[in-house]
Amino acid sequence: MQNNLPIIALDFDSIETVEQFLDQFDEPLFVKVGMELFYQTGPSLIASIKERGHRIFLDLKLHDIPNTVSKAMEGLSKLDVDLVNVHAAGGSEMMKRALEGIRKYNQHTKIVAVTQLTSTTEAMLNNEQNIQSTIDEAVLNYANLAKSAGLDGVVCSPLEAELLTRELGDDFLKVTPGIRPENATSDDQHRITTPEKASALGSTHIVVGRPITKSQTPVTSYQNIKESWFKSHD
Ligand code: C5P
Repeated sequence: MQNNLPIIALDFDSIETVEQFLDQFDEPLFVKVGMELFYQTGPSLIASIKERGHRIFLDLKLHDIPNTVSKAMEGLSKLDVDLVNVHAAGGSEMMKRALEGIRKYNQHTKIVAVTQLTSTTEAMLNNEQNIQSTIDEAVLNYANLAKSAGLDGVVCSPLEAELLTRELGDDFLKVTPGIRPENATSDDQHRITTPEKASALGSTHIVVGRPITKSQTPVTSYQNIKESWFKSHD
């Protein structure tokens, strides 16, 4: 059974907006800081979110030569966040060196690999990346590579989580965006599932952005999503 809090995607562009958003909550959260926010605010934002007692998924999707990724991860290791990620396409040596880097200053940050972005279609996979397989096969291949490299799991679509749970077990993390409550707008997400469905498919963490951040009542929206997610684990 997994009991990880839903991860709220803080897709804002300034420290002030993040603080206004977080001020509404009086409980510890698990939040995602992505490139948009981190590139504009830097490491100081991470420290201030941590001071508030929240857990952090730093979603920077590193992808470069193994040595560069390793050194970059050494830097991120000092930030002492809960979760970081790389692109599995960087290869197993890069993933192993990423793991070495993140272990430099702390032993607890988990590290997962992006398999195929959910914006990638099978036509793009076949024609642009020249990978002649289905999305599921490509995702499974990268997930196997990530597991062999010692990583804790992958970022994937909830629709792929079922296959990965079957092949790689319950403990391998499946961090899944593309979550929408029943009857919510899908925004630009195409392959979406509800928190309950994601849980049934084997997601270990769900990432939810706009259904909470753009809600008129963010705290209520979060509580409802959290309730559905946890209830489905009973
Ligand atoms: O607003 P929404 O719930 O769609 O936000 C989902 C979050 O997850 C965004 O920060 C988005 O960049 C991220 N994400 C995604 N699909 C991926 C990887 C990350 O939607 N494959």
